[in-house]
Amino acid sequence: MRLLVLYGKYPSLNSLELVEAAERRGHEVLSGSIIDVSSHISNRGSRFWLRDVEITDYDVCLLRSFGPGSCSQLTRRISLMEHMELTGIRVVNPCYPFRRARDKYATQYILAKAGLPIAETYITEDLGAAYRWAGRLGTCIYKPILGHMGRGSMMFEDPDMAYNALKSLTRIGEPLLLQEYLRKPGRDIRVFVVGDDVVGAAYKYGPPGSWKTNVAQGGRMVAGEIAEEILELGVRAVKALGLDYAGVDIAESERGPVILEVNGAPGWQALKQATGVDIAGKIIEYVEGLAS
Ligand SMILES: Nc1ncnc2c1ncn2[C@@H]1O[C@H](COP(=O)(O)OP(=O)(O)O)[C@@H](O)[C@H]1O
Ligand SMILES: [Mg+2]
Repeated sequence: MRLLVLYGKYPSLNSLELVEAAERRGHEVLSGSIIDVSSHISNRGSRFWLRDVEITDYDVCLLRSFGPGSCSQLTRRISLMEHMELTGIRVVNPCYPFRRARDKYATQYILAKAGLPIAETYITEDLGAAYRWAGRLGTCIYKPILGHMGRGSMMFEDPDMAYNALKSLTRIGEPLLLQEYLRKPGRDIRVFVVGDDVVGAAYKYGPPGSWKTNVAQGGRMVAGEIAEEILELGVRAVKALGLDYAGVDIAESERGPVILEVNGAPGWQALKQATGVDIAGKIIEYVEGLAS
């Protein structure tokens, strides 16, 4: 199989492991930044290049990130991936589901439509309306619509504290996404799904006193027995979003399990350490099944 691995500006350890795992299994692999991919369209067909190497005939593209950039640059890259899909390159995760999972607003309405448990969420660009909802939600969280690694999310116990922060956010053009704060033990659960299977799962403990459990925020993953019901919820979330593989974060809230996030470009270094599972190998194995 001819396989392309596309990352953002720089390759992460996860991207490098995908390349290694695919090479180990005898595939022809090329990797690079999505920024360096260009395309040509005519009525005779479409062609694609990574830098100056033609990649038009590649079978699969493992998409890890759209990279940093302006709204126009990101529009170009999202269309580029859709264009590749239309010409027969299998993109993993598929372009639109990948985009949707990156977007914390879209994730919520897709999960809710599938009947899966989510945290109540309000989104607006109107400061006054956000202020009123902060009062209504009680303790609430602001999340950047494209946030990751727990960065930029803030908890407010008082709507007037929220007001000051939200005012600054509107000034820099950020939509205001507010979410009910879920009381939960000092941990979440990460369920890693590839295709129809859970390939690994672990508890994610936040640092003492923190409501965030992200590894990037000092959280740590610990292997442990996880209820079948939670694992199934992970698989259903990945199916609902239309992803091939994802890391699903689930909170054990007072009203039962709630899906916090479905990460379409999940890292797995901490999970691999906690469980010993070769996640990159599992993804490549899954991709082989798609191409055959
Ligand atoms: N509604 C919520 N209530 C309580 N804790 C939350 C809530 N949403 C997120 N968290 C905590 O914050 C962390 C980061 O939130 P998440 O939505 O996963 O954003 P990110 O993409 O930045 O990881 C989660 O792993 C979880 O521990
Ligand atoms: Mg998260």
